[in-house]
Amino acid sequence: MIDQLYRKAVLTVAERPQVEKLARDKMWPLAQRFVAGEDIQSAISAVLELQKDGIQGNLDLLGEFIESPADCTAFADNVLKLIDAAHAAGIKPYVSVKLSSVGQGKDDGGTDLGLKNARRIIGKAKEYGGFVCLDMEDHPRTDITLEQFRVLVGEFGAEHVGTVLQSYLYRSLKDRESLDDLRPNIRMVKGAYLEPETVAYPDKADVDQNYRRLVYAHLKAGNYCNVATHDEKIIDDVKRFVLAHGISKDQFEFQMLYGIRRDLQKSLAAEGYRVRAYIPYGRDWYAYFSRRIAETPRNAMFVARGMLKG
Ligand code: FDA
Repeated sequence: MIDQLYRKAVLTVAERPQVEKLARDKMWPLAQRFVAGEDIQSAISAVLELQKDGIQGNLDLLGEFIESPADCTAFADNVLKLIDAAHAAGIKPYVSVKLSSVGQGKDDGGTDLGLKNARRIIGKAKEYGGFVCLDMEDHPRTDITLEQFRVLVGEFGAEHVGTVLQSYLYRSLKDRESLDDLRPNIRMVKGAYLEPETVAYPDKADVDQNYRRLVYAHLKAGNYCNVATHDEKIIDDVKRFVLAHGISKDQFEFQMLYGIRRDLQKSLAAEGYRVRAYIPYGRDWYAYFSRRIAETPRNAMFVARGMLKG
């Protein structure tokens, strides 16, 4: 409950236009702990750097609340450029996309623009043997994202497109089960948005417990699971679970955010686990940065100290 209140307070303040303007001016040097840079080259360099420690990258061009259809398509064009640049740098493209940023919910001649642009992006990634994960956004988008995921897996195959389930939503266990026929590649997360009690567990202990249930069920069903958390207790439990159930290290990977628990990322990779860091980049970093601060007061302190230093 306290976690919910903290998150609500931070996100409510962060959404105020005056706060955003001040933050954009002053916080970029601090945001760079969590964001690789503003251009493609910085993102590619971050992947190459992490690869030296045996950690793979998951590239994410930042962009939310993109309104006009033309902007959505231009955003998708930039993701295509990113995929080409990764391939040219010798990296198998692995990118994450928010369907809202490429036009989900906007009609384009009878087809959903988000679906149309997602097809272009996944088609391009597939050309290079790459992968696209459809990020999960706030709960009004869950149904449409899962529906579009089903369509896209049908067209491109589960080896080239995956999606995300959030353990704070009451519905996620059922959603997971309903996708089993696709043999889906799913990233499990706790959930980063401000959601009402009508749809999401208000208590962290329930969110954590549901997280374990989701991961275990997905692995037991024989599917590929991206265990995306920095929660060391859960990571240890997952390690024990896979050992006890004879689940191979090829059936899952640990995923964490760029700049967070770098020590843990390295040590897991050194133990022979697959590890992937989610690497956001781009000029539109503010909303992403606000969510990271909302996740833990420790990050708010990090920002406060940085601001005080000048
Ligand atoms: P929790 O919040 O319980 O934190 C566990 C411990 O990790 C904390 O005690 C702290 O030590 C550390 N920690 C966590 N967050 C930290 C931070 N920001 N800074 C410093 N330390 C931190 N969400 C979503 O809704 N849709 C999505 O598509 C995705 N995608 C995604 C991809 C990847 C690779 C990750 C790792 C996460 C996401 N998320 C997400 C975000 C996710 O929902 C969640 O908000 C964060 O991962 C934080 O939750 P944890 O699981 O780390 O646990």
